[in-house]
Parts: sequence; C-alpha cells; structure tokens
Amino acid sequence: MESERRNNVLIAGGSGEIGTMLSAYLIERGYNVSILSRSVRKVREGIKIFNWNPAKGIIDEGSLKNQDYIINLSGVGIADKLWTKSRKKEILESRLNSLNLLEKTLQKLGVKPDKIISVSAVGYYGNRPFEVLNEENGAGGGYLADVCTNWEQAAHKLNAFTTSLIVLRIGVVISPGMGFVRRIAQLFRFGVNIIPGNGKQYMPWIGAKDLIRIFEYLMKNSTKTNIYNAVSSHANSILDIQEQIADYYRRKLLKIHVPAFLLRALTGSLSQVFLNNQHVKPAKLIDEGFDFREYSIRDALQNN
Ligand SMILES: NC(=O)c1ccc[n+]([C@@H]2O[C@H](COP(=O)([O-])OP(=O)(O)OC[C@H]3O[C@@H](n4cnc5c(N)ncnc54)[C@H](OP(=O)(O)O)[C@@H]3O)[C@@H](O)[C@H]2O)c1
Repeated sequence: MESERRNNVLIAGGSGEIGTMLSAYLIERGYNVSILSRSVRKVREGIKIFNWNPAKGIIDEGSLKNQDYIINLSGVGIADKLWTKSRKKEILESRLNSLNLLEKTLQKLGVKPDKIISVSAVGYYGNRPFEVLNEENGAGGGYLADVCTNWEQAAHKLNAFTTSLIVLRIGVVISPGMGFVRRIAQLFRFGVNIIPGNGKQYMPWIGAKDLIRIFEYLMKNSTKTNIYNAVSSHANSILDIQEQIADYYRRKLLKIHVPAFLLRALTGSLSQVFLNNQHVKPAKLIDEGFDFREYSIRDALQNN
C-alpha cells in the first residue's frame, strides 16, 4: 500500500516576504497551503486564509485541524523601524504571543502535526568576531540575542505537540525584491553605497530560493527535534555583499563608510543588525548533505 501522503501545511505569518515565496513554492510542489494572518485582505490564489489575532488570543481553531506541518514565521519586522522601547516590546511580544497561542490551541484541540518548524534568526549568536559559529554555540549578548533566545524557548514548548520540532536560525535573506536588498538598492538611486563601519564584519546570508528549499528539505527529511542554521555555506563580509549587490544592478556608486560610532548614534541599538560580526556556518545542513545551490550573492540575486 502506498504510504499516506502528508501535504497539508499551515504557515503562521505566511503573508510576508518569506511566506509568500514559500507558499507559492509549496503549492507548485503539490502541497495544500493555508496561512494564519491577522488580515483577510491579503488573500492569494490557491491559499486558504485563516484569521487570528495573537495579541488578543483569538484564533480560528479550524486552522490547526488536519495539518501535517506547521511553519511559524510570525512577528513584526525586526529591522523595519528604530528600536524604541515600545518597538522592542512589540518585536518580542508579537513573537511570543504567536507561539503561545499556537501552543495553547494545539493543547486544547489535542492535535499533533508531524512537524513544526519555527523560525529564529542568526541574531541569536550576538557579536562574535573571533569565532566560527555553528548550531552548538550558545547565545551571544545584546537585545537581538535575547529576543532570539526567548523566541526559541517559546518555540521549544511546542515540542510536546509534534513528532519533530525544528528551530531555523535564518540569516539575511537575499533576493532582489526582498527587505535587505530592496533597502540597499533604494540608496543606489542617490548614487551611494552606504557601508556600515569598515564593512569587514561577516553578515550571514541565505539566498531566498535556497531558504525555501531548506524548509521543504526539513519537512521531508528531518525526523528529530533539532536546531538548524539557515545560512549560505559561503560566508561574506557586509562590504562584499553590498558590492556584489551594486555589481548586480550595474551601478557605479560612491562608496561611503559610515563609522560605527556614527551609525550607533544615528540608529541606536538597531545598529547591531549591521555591525555585528558573525561568521555562522550551516554545519548541520552541510553535515546532512543539503544541496546548496546559491553560492554567491550574485547567484542568489539572479536565481530569485
Ligand atoms: N527576511 C529576513 O531576512 C529574515 C532573516 C531572519 C529571520 N527572519 C524572520 O522570519 C520571519 C518571516 O520573515 P519575513 O521577512 O517574511 O517577515 P515579514 O515580511 O515581516 O512577515 C512576517 C509576518 O508576520 C506577521 N506579523 C506581523 N506582525 C505581527 C504581530 N504583531 N503578531 C503576529 N503576526 C504578525 C505578518 O502577517 P499578517 O500581517 O498577515 O498577520 C507578516 O506577514 C520573521 O519572524 C523574521 O523575523 C527573517
């Protein structure tokens, strides 16, 4: 007898940049995709939308029934605005509220999806200029590392409600239309490539297509509860990354280094997103033989 097909996927926070790419890819691959969103306005073809409001503890419970996989991407943008006191609270609470509501509802319904994948970020490792980091390294210091630690702890509570819980620490996603590249490219219109500090700091990145393939790889292959770094196997400095982006857009730009002290003065603690030095390796994925295809920033830009 053919083994039962497992292909119902619920993506919490699936209306955003990663969720939009991921859901399109999974639909193309024959999965039934639903998303949990705070807004019904963001309806997309082929996707069933369920509503929730994590801040108010409201959820359409039907969303969690008959799901083989749950992927959690929800949370307000980390680098979208300056980190005021209230924004910091929002960044953390939006993530904890979402995970707590998923946990409470899974418990109430007594359902157990095969796999839950909840994202985190490489911000977990903090500023570690002298280390090569893999999944075994502990958390670093600073606000972002604290957020990721709390975010992951809340995710681990879902372990009781699935056969396999995966936490995916994602690097900056590289694709022409997406957050980081879009913002850098906007500055190109003024003829400048603004480099944070001396630019020598490693910034872990992942091509959008490789990231989406990592999600599917983990859905299909990983059977244990585990933590994975979703970053490219090739590490680059932020200067190198920004120069490759400029080269892709064929722009002759004036390169301006903003000294670290000035960036800190201008953007406060948000500056750690651009100044942290993190040489992160996707050790588990390499170990398991994951077939990375986007080896350079140019590959990622051309492929997405
Ligand atoms: N993109 C990257 O480079 C990157 C790197 C590392 C980690 N990550 C993490 O990966 C996840 C997805 O990233 P993304 O780039 O796709 O982000 P995104 O475009 O900002 O999407 C995140 C989604 O979260 C939901 N959301 C926003 N505020 C919320 C709140 N207060 N409560 C509950 N849900 C809320 C939104 O869905 P609705 O408005 O439909 O509810 C939104 O579509 C995020 O958690 C992000 O921190 C991203």
